[in-house]
Amino acid sequence: MNLVVGATGVLGGEICRLLTERRNPVRALVRGTSNPDRVAHLKRLGAELVRGDLKDRRSLDVASRGASAVISTASSTVSRQAGDSIESVDRQGQLDLIDAAAAAGVKRFVVVSFPSVAMDFPLQSAKRAVEERLRASGMTYTILRPTFFTEVWLSPALGFDAPNAKAQIYGGGQNRISWISFQDVARFAVAALDNPQAKNAVIELGGPGALSTMEVVRLAEQVTGKRFDVQHVPEEALQAQYGSATDPLQQSFAALMLFYAHGAAIDMKGTLGAFPGQHLRSVRAYFEASTQTPSSVRPT
Ligand SMILES: NC(=O)c1ccc[n+]([C@@H]2O[C@H](COP(=O)([O-])OP(=O)(O)OC[C@H]3O[C@@H](n4cnc5c(N)ncnc54)[C@H](OP(=O)(O)O)[C@@H]3O)[C@@H](O)[C@H]2O)c1
Repeated sequence: MNLVVGATGVLGGEICRLLTERRNPVRALVRGTSNPDRVAHLKRLGAELVRGDLKDRRSLDVASRGASAVISTASSTVSRQAGDSIESVDRQGQLDLIDAAAAAGVKRFVVVSFPSVAMDFPLQSAKRAVEERLRASGMTYTILRPTFFTEVWLSPALGFDAPNAKAQIYGGGQNRISWISFQDVARFAVAALDNPQAKNAVIELGGPGALSTMEVVRLAEQVTGKRFDVQHVPEEALQAQYGSATDPLQQSFAALMLFYAHGAAIDMKGTLGAFPGQHLRSVRAYFEASTQTPSSVRPT
């Protein structure tokens, strides 16, 4: 049994879909407040649903019972309810999940983190604390560290509005990023469950090539045939936002935007060698698909 925590999210939903496609049993952790369409989607996939919350340790003990593997993608950064925070969910909740899984005899644990960022901010401290606890847990672990999800950071929600030919970009846009599709991250997460090379490994993940944000703009212009209106958020403004933020989430977002501005290129050669047959979706393919279906990346 594979317990997926974060199953109602973008990445977790795709992981559940891939697992059920492989006919692997899936137990999806859902909340009373989770989006009912996404819960229904998980049910249609054939996942077993278990009610739980990362803030409720007892529910994690119950959810972990009888599971052989746990994949956790959960985060409070986008999908939040009252009481959810980086501290209560991304740090303490994930630590409790690791403890609950280890106590229940779970053998494999895959967690989604992000690459090391040369700045101190609450989301990064939470992710690193979780990684450390997992390494010491005695379970076989895989820590996946993807860069920026194409469908999130190159979407209208974050200011990259290809359908309307507008792009708000963070910093000068000259530094390269290995944008990665969440679908590829999901495939690595599922493959990690039985790939010996993923055992007790920390794996950085990026897409098929690194592109600066200005190169991404030019690519989007080619694909859409439209000239983009580009607005830059200056690095100094992001630094000021980072320096003055009192809210942990706002400070974390500012740090991630600075990380984007500084670039995050990942060489995937070694990882692709260790995961033969893994396909990496290009940014071009994303724009080509989104000019046909611009609305949503959600799995439902
Ligand atoms: N976006 C990026 O570019 C990027 C890059 C690198 C790494 N990541 C990591 O990728 C992961 C997945 O991202 P995503 O896009 O799939 O996120 P998402 O769509 O926002 O999904 C978040 C999931 O976490 C669940 N969750 C939140 N609080 C919870 C709680 N208290 N108890 C139980 N579940 C809770 C949500 O459940 P409900 O539906 O019930 O709220 C939802 O299923 C995150 O760990 C993120 O840090 C993202």
